[in-house]
Amino acid sequence: MSKSLITVEKETGVFHLHNNEISYILQVEDENVLSHIYFGKRISRYSNHKQYLRRDRGFSGNVPGQALREYSKDTLPQEFSSHGSMDYRIPASIIKRENGSNLHDFRYDSYQVVAGKPALEGLPAAYIEAEDEASTLIVTLKDRDQAIYLDLLYTIYRDRGVVARSTKVRNETGGKISIEKIASMQLDLTNSGRFTDVLSLPGAHVRERHVARETLTNGTKVFESRRGASSHHMNSFVALMGQDANEFSGEVMGMQFVYSGNHRFEIEKDQIDQLRVLVGINPYNFSWELTQGEAFQTPEVLLVYSDQGLNKMSDTYHCLLRERVARGEHRDQERPILVNNWEATYFDFTSKKIEQIVDEAADLGIEMFVLDDGWFGARTSDNSSLGDWFEFEGKLANGLKGIADYVHGKGLKFGLWFEPEMISIDSKLYQEHPDYLMQEPGRTPSSSRDQHLLDMGRKEVRENIQQQIESILDSVPIDYIKWDMNRSMSDAYSIALAPENQGETAHRYMLGVYELLENLTTKYSNILWEGCSGGGGRFDAGFLHYMPQSWASDNTDAVERLKIQYGTSIAYPISNSTAHVSAVPNHQTGRVTSLKTRGDVAMCGVFGYELDLTLLSEEEKVEIKEQITFYQAVRPLVQFGTFIRLASPFEGNTAAWMFVDEAKSEAMVFITRVLGEAQPLFHEVRLAGLEPETIYTDMETGETYAGDELMNLGVYFPDFYGDFQTKLIHLKKQ
Ligand code: GLA
Repeated sequence: MSKSLITVEKETGVFHLHNNEISYILQVEDENVLSHIYFGKRISRYSNHKQYLRRDRGFSGNVPGQALREYSKDTLPQEFSSHGSMDYRIPASIIKRENGSNLHDFRYDSYQVVAGKPALEGLPAAYIEAEDEASTLIVTLKDRDQAIYLDLLYTIYRDRGVVARSTKVRNETGGKISIEKIASMQLDLTNSGRFTDVLSLPGAHVRERHVARETLTNGTKVFESRRGASSHHMNSFVALMGQDANEFSGEVMGMQFVYSGNHRFEIEKDQIDQLRVLVGINPYNFSWELTQGEAFQTPEVLLVYSDQGLNKMSDTYHCLLRERVARGEHRDQERPILVNNWEATYFDFTSKKIEQIVDEAADLGIEMFVLDDGWFGARTSDNSSLGDWFEFEGKLANGLKGIADYVHGKGLKFGLWFEPEMISIDSKLYQEHPDYLMQEPGRTPSSSRDQHLLDMGRKEVRENIQQQIESILDSVPIDYIKWDMNRSMSDAYSIALAPENQGETAHRYMLGVYELLENLTTKYSNILWEGCSGGGGRFDAGFLHYMPQSWASDNTDAVERLKIQYGTSIAYPISNSTAHVSAVPNHQTGRVTSLKTRGDVAMCGVFGYELDLTLLSEEEKVEIKEQITFYQAVRPLVQFGTFIRLASPFEGNTAAWMFVDEAKSEAMVFITRVLGEAQPLFHEVRLAGLEPETIYTDMETGETYAGDELMNLGVYFPDFYGDFQTKLIHLKKQ
């Protein structure tokens, strides 16, 4: 029988979740208030000495029903705060009852320990493959006066530094309640000075997931998306960091939301410098009605602790997301090297042009051809046909099937682009079902890229789209699908919902999308699905549950990609992050970089090409063949190895990172100096993650080095000349 992961001490009311790496401790305090004791490095035994100190503080009143002046919810670290019972910090929930009151006061009611990890119905979540991989504690709180219950779910994995958390609200009041805010997780931390900083991943379209670190000061810091998607603008991830924490040392606590819609991370530093962290669906434009007996399950948060800096936290996320969030046949499979025709042709392609590209691709050793936007409806530009998922008659001489057969005939796989959640006004779908467009009837909806959202919360809308996609998939042999979403949500109004339920529109949209994804990815499990939203606008753990990879950014410039890929790696595995070599001058920045630089950068992700192969010179073809052969050799290492960041492109003129396989017998190091230097510094970098006494051979030069030599002495960068210089070093155990 394997060791228990959850200890419950009935006398003291202490719950201790623990594995070999971490401990999470909570306790039922006086008056049945559930308090937070600890989350961090594993402790072998908790002896109940850390009960929160009692002190009478002015203007911090008492727990309702209790006269003890020294005990107030206003400063007590709690597992889930109430609203209106003298805790003036940000509330984790606001729930309105029929009499208009939104007051509640949650107290401990009961608990359950269950083996494994329950699935969250209709939602993406981390999962287990065997019951003893994890245990789950469910602590139930109840409002002091009303039968409103909160089930707080805590799953601890046996072999990972992770606690997965979520909340379920149950209404047993006999009447209706309306949830206006419900966090998936609250974490109250005492003022121990452990966490001084917060790291987030803000950005924009073509500038996703840049790294931002700042010091927390008193007041509330918010990181959120109100765009109906997890967004390019603020990724659904933050980490708390100790003042001295860096990539390799110090305490870091990551919070990753497994959700692709509006999110909100709130961090409040209170009157005595304690921290309250809340993560959940954004309460902006949100409400959810529950009638008697109904329940609402929040999406989950993956809470990760590292005592060895950001790299260890990232590694925990990489393994968890790759192994227990992503699903499907392709989860553990090496991903094909593709060529996508988007930047090669945009909308302007013919069968002949595609066949020429495919011929070149076959010759170069590329493994898959992806036909991007423009093959359906009457789509000649981005202002029509979304929603018309049938072939653009006459555009491809032998039709889509003809192209698919041609590609397969050349020994390549065939992939196709869809943007299923959208509708163009200029479309057959709009002519037939104008009401499918998400809008308030009678009000002109806002357009973006000349397109609108479908109301995916409605079953008939989803069924229409699913049938259209299925009829393509059933008639054309397709190996891969790119699932795009090219605008943010606006006009969040659903004609299917009553006036008082309009606040449910955005979340019902997301649940609808998840249902459609579940249906299609299960039915067509042979297909490799890739997420996309104008690049990385929905690059989150929720989408990863359905699609094991996502297009990291519409920005294919090798230099700008350094920051995008570096930032992305903080929270997401490399196997999730696709990267392509494109033409120069780069279409987004106008920058010219060498084919080598473009290849080296893209080879640090799931690799592909996105340029007109028919325009390549003979020398370029030779170089591309070499890139493909090299990538094929290192592909398992890149896609499934341990990734370690060594030098940040946000901090200077260089960047470096590396990959090491599980056996530590192979590694690949990437180094770059961005701009040329007339009086060059001797840049150097110390490697990491190798076996100290193993001798590694540099596969290019044949030189040999001991692991500890590379990790302690480090290596010099080559004497680079010019801008945008890169190098890949491939090391193998002798
Ligand atoms: C988005 C994607 C691109 C491409 C276009 C097609 O912008 O991110 O890769 O597929 O749509 O319209």
